[in-house]
Amino acid sequence: MMKNLIVTGGVGFIGSNFVRYVVENQPTVHVTVLDKLTYAGNRANLAGLPADRVELVVGDICDAPLVEQLVRRADAVVHYAAESHNDNSLIDPAPFIQTNIVGTYTLIQACRKYDVRFHHVSTDEVYGDLPLRADLPGHGEGVGEKFTPDSPYRPSSPYSSSKASSDLLVRAWVRSFGLKATISNCSNNYGPYQHIEKFIPRQITNILSGSRPKLYGTGKNVRDWIHTSDHSRAVWTILTQGKIGETYLIGANGERDNQAVLETILRLMGQPADAYDRVKDRPGHDLRYAIDATKLRTELGWRPEVTDFETGLQQTIDWYRTHEDWWRAIKAQVEAKYAKNGQ
Ligand code: NAD
Ligand code: DAU
Repeated sequence: MMKNLIVTGGVGFIGSNFVRYVVENQPTVHVTVLDKLTYAGNRANLAGLPADRVELVVGDICDAPLVEQLVRRADAVVHYAAESHNDNSLIDPAPFIQTNIVGTYTLIQACRKYDVRFHHVSTDEVYGDLPLRADLPGHGEGVGEKFTPDSPYRPSSPYSSSKASSDLLVRAWVRSFGLKATISNCSNNYGPYQHIEKFIPRQITNILSGSRPKLYGTGKNVRDWIHTSDHSRAVWTILTQGKIGETYLIGANGERDNQAVLETILRLMGQPADAYDRVKDRPGHDLRYAIDATKLRTELGWRPEVTDFETGLQQTIDWYRTHEDWWRAIKAQVEAKYAKNGQ
């Protein structure tokens, strides 16, 4: 019975959306959020959630005594906490190694000790990238080679290699110590509460600020977009129905190249299609991600609900438009960091 859940990183973008999902859909579950409140953790992301359902513990997942104290009274840990931004990992990899690798190690050691169920939230980037499908319009939405749970690990960046390392630790702890763990690797999320350093919210808030959006390199790199609410439902499904030791890939057939996404944002916000700047590319920039979620669909019956990307994007634009107080104070600082990097 899942009554006491620990959600690490539950103040961040995807973690806080998951906490909201649990509060709204699982009335008997109490959530303890363990979050360090780094630059990416905003207390406002949990605003309005009932205090008798959600407790925030401000702390570090690398703090073993604290982690043990929380884990010993939990039924399960859902692990979102991470340094999550590729561009940051290229400037300073150190916190990625510490949080993503040492932090995951600390959590699985505690779960092993107290025999607690563990779900590890990971990313499709551990599989590296796929070739572009330049022969197909829109780079072949839903067509061509995709990542499967058997794809080889080929991470490209400090961020994705630290996530790959954490996945491998979890797999080894399952095999060697009988850790009751599952892993999910999801594609690019979008939706409310995403930090404005990331692609979609950066461009929306640029336009809302009267600045021009910034596209890296050719703009032909493809990402496989999924609404974060569909990710939350998938994680709950895997936590409660997934088979121990298994890896599930989460994706919603949302392949689009960055230029196409940006042109859609511009159109939905009433701007000319070419009202953006091309800037310096990201070193080692992965070309294309694409998820084959057959296993999750057929074995656990999960389906995405937000199947129309433009509708999800319009709702996301509306959220940033009506929540200027949530992002305005950090906008100049985020852009100054990018400007320093020529982006
Ligand atoms: P985010 O950067 O918005 O949030 C990360 C949260 O973790 C923040 O609240 C931060 O304060 C917390 N945190 C960081 N270091 C910590 C530490 N040492 N101890 C405790 N808390 C700490 O990240 P996100 O985009 O919401 O991603 C969440 C998870 O989902 C990550 O594990 C990421 O790899 C994975 N993921 C993200 C995506 C995506 O598209 N964003 C896709 C697939 C998987
Ligand atoms: O695939 C899942 C991953 O998706 C997650 O594991 C990561 O945590 C998450 O950050 C995301 O990684 P990406 O590097 O794909 O996301 P980002 O939002 O940084 O960039 C998306 C694409 O847009 C990428 O091809 C780079 C490009 N880009 C990004 C920014 C910030 C631009 O063209 N301009 C920009 O200003």
